[in-house]
Amino acid sequence: MHNPPDLSDKATAQSYLVAQRAIHRACQRYRWYDCNWLRKYSAAKELIEKLRPERLSNFIETIEPLRTGGSFTTRELRSAFDKRKLIEIRDAIKHHPIGNSSSYEKEKFGRVIVHDLPPLVDLQRDIESEISTIVGEEIESSYNFLSLYSNLGVCEPHMDSPIAKWTFDVCIEQSKVWPLYLSQVVDWPETFAGSADNWRSDIVDDPNLTFTAYNLEPGDAVVFSGSSQWHYREPLSQAGPDDFCNLLFFHFLPRGTREIARAGNWPRLFAVPELEWIVSAAALQSASS
Ligand SMILES: [Fe+2]
Repeated sequence: MHNPPDLSDKATAQSYLVAQRAIHRACQRYRWYDCNWLRKYSAAKELIEKLRPERLSNFIETIEPLRTGGSFTTRELRSAFDKRKLIEIRDAIKHHPIGNSSSYEKEKFGRVIVHDLPPLVDLQRDIESEISTIVGEEIESSYNFLSLYSNLGVCEPHMDSPIAKWTFDVCIEQSKVWPLYLSQVVDWPETFAGSADNWRSDIVDDPNLTFTAYNLEPGDAVVFSGSSQWHYREPLSQAGPDDFCNLLFFHFLPRGTREIARAGNWPRLFAVPELEWIVSAAALQSASS
C-alpha cells in the first residue's frame, strides 16, 4: 500500500479519506504523552469498521490480551532493590555518556532518559518471573529506561502504550520524595471526552477516578499497569537548582504479544493494507515511551 496512495482511483481516494478522518478524530480525542498507540488503535478500529467490518471482531479480540483486568491493584514493594544494587545502578548511570540522550526529553519533561543499558536489560530479565506472579499473567520484558529528572521535572497525567502494559518503577536516587499518583485500573479511555484546553484537569479531577500517592524512597518500587492506570507527578514543589529524581522503569508486556502490540504489524497481521496509512501517519509518530 503506497503512502500517499494513488488518489486518481476513486475507491482508493474514498478509503484514504476515511483513514484521514479517523486519524484526525483520534488526534483530537487523545492528547497526553504516549497516546499514539491508542490513537492508532482507535483509528484502526474505525477504518476496519468502515472498510472491512467483517474483520473488526477479530481485530478487537486479538488485541484483547493487551488490556488489563479490573481486578489488578497496584503493588508497592518497599526496598525492592538493596543498597548494593542501587550503588551498581548509580555507577552505571555515572559511566554512561549522557550526551547521547534525547534533548527533546530535556525540554519537554525536564529529564534525560537512557534506554536499555546492558546491565539493566539483564536485571530486568532476572525479575520477569517475580513480575509475572505479581501481575497474574506470564510476561516478558519489553524495554527499560532510566529517567533522570532535574528540578524542572514534569510528568503530566497520561496512560502508557500497552507495549508497556506493566511497569516496575523503582527509585534509584533523589534529593527529595516526588510522589507518583496512580488511579485504579480502568478501561482504555477510547471515548475520552476531555476538552482541548482542560484535558489534564478532566483526568485528575474525574470523580470516577481515585488517585493514590506513592512516595518512593531509594530502592522502593511500585508495580502498576501504566496502560490502564492514569498516572502523573506534580511538579517538584519548591525545587532548587540541585533537586533531582532518578527513576528506573522496567516495562513488560504479556508473553507472546510483542507482534500484535506493534501497530506497524497490523496491516499484515489483519490483512487490511489500508491500515498502513494509519500506522505510518506522520501525525502519529511523535516520541513516546
Ligand atoms: Fe507513564
